[in-house]
Amino acid sequence: MSASTTAPWWRDAVVYQVYPRSFADADGDGMGDLPGITRRLEYLRDLGVDAVWLSPFYRSPQADGGYDVADYRDVDPLFGTLADFDALAARARELGLRLIVDLVPNHTSSAHAWFRAALAAGPGSRERARYLFRDGRGPGGDEPPNNWESIFGGRAWTRVSDLPVDIRAGADDDQWYLHLFDSSQPDLDWTDPQVHAEFLDVLRFWHERGVDGFRIDVAHGLVKAEGLPDWAGTVVMAEGTVDTADTADTADTDDPVDPADTAAATDSGPMFDQDGVHEIYREWHALLAELDPEAALIAEAWVQPMSRLALYVRPDEMQQAFNFAYLTAGWDARVVRSVIEESIEVLGAVGASPTWVLSNHDVIRHATRLALGASGSGPNGLRASDPQPDAALGLRRAKAATLQMLALPGSAYLYQGEELGLPDHTTMRDEFRADPAFLRTDGAEVGRDGCRVPMTWAGGEPGAGFSFGADVTGWLPQPAVYADLAVDRQEGRADSTLEFYRAALALRRDLGLGRRELSWRATPGPDVLAFAVGDVHVVTNFGDRPVRLDVSPGAEVLIASGAVDRRTGSLTLPGECTAWIRD
Ligand code: GLC
Repeated sequence: MSASTTAPWWRDAVVYQVYPRSFADADGDGMGDLPGITRRLEYLRDLGVDAVWLSPFYRSPQADGGYDVADYRDVDPLFGTLADFDALAARARELGLRLIVDLVPNHTSSAHAWFRAALAAGPGSRERARYLFRDGRGPGGDEPPNNWESIFGGRAWTRVSDLPVDIRAGADDDQWYLHLFDSSQPDLDWTDPQVHAEFLDVLRFWHERGVDGFRIDVAHGLVKAEGLPDWAGTVVMAEGTVDTADTADTADTDDPVDPADTAAATDSGPMFDQDGVHEIYREWHALLAELDPEAALIAEAWVQPMSRLALYVRPDEMQQAFNFAYLTAGWDARVVRSVIEESIEVLGAVGASPTWVLSNHDVIRHATRLALGASGSGPNGLRASDPQPDAALGLRRAKAATLQMLALPGSAYLYQGEELGLPDHTTMRDEFRADPAFLRTDGAEVGRDGCRVPMTWAGGEPGAGFSFGADVTGWLPQPAVYADLAVDRQEGRADSTLEFYRAALALRRDLGLGRRELSWRATPGPDVLAFAVGDVHVVTNFGDRPVRLDVSPGAEVLIASGAVDRRTGSLTLPGECTAWIRD
């Protein structure tokens, strides 16, 4: 990777994910909104991030928190208006923040005009060709067209005649339609040219409104295998079963980790990662190259191994892809090292910059997840009967992981609230849960609501200041600890997680980290990872005991996630700690 200053902004950007429902509520209805985000943009500038990614705010019945889009060119009244979006974009620009929006091309909402028209027009119609309607199997077509399961549980097919009358739009046939997610999220048929034309136009629409990049939802799902064949495997997604290596029993040996263990070559099934998806991204790349060569497309693609992910970021496709192998690597030096090595090598081989991410709106926050045990993937939420993970241990590991991530070459994605050390919590009561994964499985899957709890701005106010000045609580209740973790309780306190993030982000920018080459360094033991980026040495102690490092007499600790004991010629890193050292 080059250290050139002319590299496009996204190559080393720190991107902050905002989940609009839960960030800041300006109109006091308990639901976050665009004006709320605009009022908090200065906070993000001061935090020191380069870009803001907004999860969907489009017109939507909100069956899946807005990932069920009814109109791709309008703002849901819950979140404001197009004028509010324009104001947000203008303010972001003024503050020097880039803006990324979410694009959901795998499926629409069942409330989308196209789906309503498809139902009304009936089997064999032009309107149905934009979705995946099929006749059923077996006598009377009573069996679904294939055996696929929804990622949120239950079958991936719903029969038109089983739809409630108010949704059916007069349809009286008994075809089935495919939905890899909720039944209110019908999959589009990307063999249809109208679908292609529509999304090119949607990209143009948001680009004209000042957007710098697009995060592509379920980027690996758009094209399905010809004939929609049955499949016996298990769906691989955050919500499902990404399983990295079982590292617990190998952590104490010196054997190198085989990358194939950490990124098991999984058959993604006939619904995911089909070669045909790449044509779509080449088409989008060509459009954006013409509109704005600096624009970025970012793939949400849960595919393994890394070499399959690299295909999405070839020079004529997307610019970046989320690195879920890093997110699911767990708290294990050897697995983390192997994922870092493989990411840099395999993504670099196609000329792409690696990305790093530890939290998002689909997984347990890393301040809690890293205290859960060896596995980095699953579960996707905590329930009341689970033991509450050790908060101090989780936060220690989370800060160490974050400090490591922020030194890695490439760009880093942060999720709202991680800069406060917010945890997931077992106090979330089931009656509040809104995740379709919970609802479709009758609670067998606990779902992702725990990481979507509203932000906490002012500890002494109702709802910890989520709704500006209003005496209301947010759409999901906050655990009691959220008040103490509020922005106003952490601001200006040198030992707070917030000030730690601010300091790390400022240093990362000053030192040009993210644009440096990484080289590995020898370490005192298997639980310690050490690499150099420029003249900064980044050392992470994954173990729970202190380790002593020999350093030169003039070595300087630039920042550390724990209390480092500095002596002449050596320093002692406490357990579960990362330090940036200039040596
Ligand atoms: C992606 C989103 C997730 C959503 C799903 C369906 O995985 O991150 O939140 O439920 O796609 O759109």
